[in-house]
Amino acid sequence: MEKTNIAIVGMGTVGTGVARLLLDHGDRTSRHAGRTLWLKKAVVRDLSKPRDIELPDGVATDSIQEVIDDPEITVVAQLIGGLEPARQIMLDLMEAGKDIVTANKALLAQHGPELFTRARELGRSIAFEASVAGGIPIIANISQCLSANQIVSLEGILNGTSNFIVTQMDERGASYDDVVRQAQKLGYAEADPAMDVDGTDAAQKLAILSHLAFGATVDWADIPKVGIDGLAADDLKYARQLGYRIKLIGSAKLAEDGLELSVGPTLVKKGTPLAEVRDAYNAIRVIGDAVGPVFYHGLGAGQMPTASAVVADLIDTAVGRTRLTFQTLEYFSIDQPPRVKLRD
Ligand code: NDP
Ligand code: HSE
Repeated sequence: MEKTNIAIVGMGTVGTGVARLLLDHGDRTSRHAGRTLWLKKAVVRDLSKPRDIELPDGVATDSIQEVIDDPEITVVAQLIGGLEPARQIMLDLMEAGKDIVTANKALLAQHGPELFTRARELGRSIAFEASVAGGIPIIANISQCLSANQIVSLEGILNGTSNFIVTQMDERGASYDDVVRQAQKLGYAEADPAMDVDGTDAAQKLAILSHLAFGATVDWADIPKVGIDGLAADDLKYARQLGYRIKLIGSAKLAEDGLELSVGPTLVKKGTPLAEVRDAYNAIRVIGDAVGPVFYHGLGAGQMPTASAVVADLIDTAVGRTRLTFQTLEYFSIDQPPRVKLRD
């Protein structure tokens, strides 16, 4: 059977999950790709750091240059977080002829236009299903399955850490600080959990979805946002007594004069689908003019759900059917995207 040599850059929560799927379940990837996805290199920052995965001899390296210089490696899962050196590494890998799969929404929300433009110039692809809502295939759904629609609105719970925190505080009386620590331990939180609790992560994901759904170029930093970091246990208690739960909701709606965007804690009536989304689960309700409302629900953070999305992208990239190639992303630069009006 033919093989595609893969490298992983960044062996943290998600990178480790991706390595597990590639090493332990090669049968699945072979079945769907019709070829072997061979983990040739895994780039770590510190070779002496203990890891909870045993890599085959010769796979771990602390040299990104080894991957860049290896013409046999054609697809790279770029799984380090933050902006730099992630941005430069992605550019260097594409220059060296590698196609990219990433989960780094902060990088795409901030530097997407530069990265996709370069990918287009170089004839490379960037797949990013894992960057929004972890294991839920929302990118593929919005950009492919619903492509016959004008999306009218999308709203939902886009940050697993915040939802975990409000669920644990509301239903189990846990303290805010304790649950934040737990979310870090469980691998849900960003390296800097402030990004989760202040609404930044949800705003970055909303900006990416808005690109895909509405063709709008949205600077995530312009989206009005409030996080859950200001919520008190009493807020959750009073909401509960009134028959509501408080959820961090990201919302993008087409209005007559533009696109309304916001991220913030929202009262959601108990018993409705969004109110019953618990812990690290995410949910997104999309309304298309032809399909009507569609509801997506699943784990939005955590090692294996996120790895599930990354490996699906690796398979698609290996067989040349990357769902979101640079070609598809020309959609981002349609001549007259809807005007973006930001809600105060
Ligand atoms: P982690 O912090 O667990 O892992 C990041 C890894 O990258 C660390 O192991 C770190 O090494 C390594 N790293 C950092 N810089 C370098 C470098 N220069 N060279 C090699 N390795 C480097 O993060 P996650 O795995 O949780 O997240 C990775 C990405 O996926 C982020 O962009 C995140 O936003 C995104 N994501 C995460 C999800 C989750 O549930 N965790 C879900 C969806 C997306 P070291 O161990 O030495 O610090
Ligand atoms: N920190 C993110 C979250 C990871 O909690 O949703 C998934 O993108």
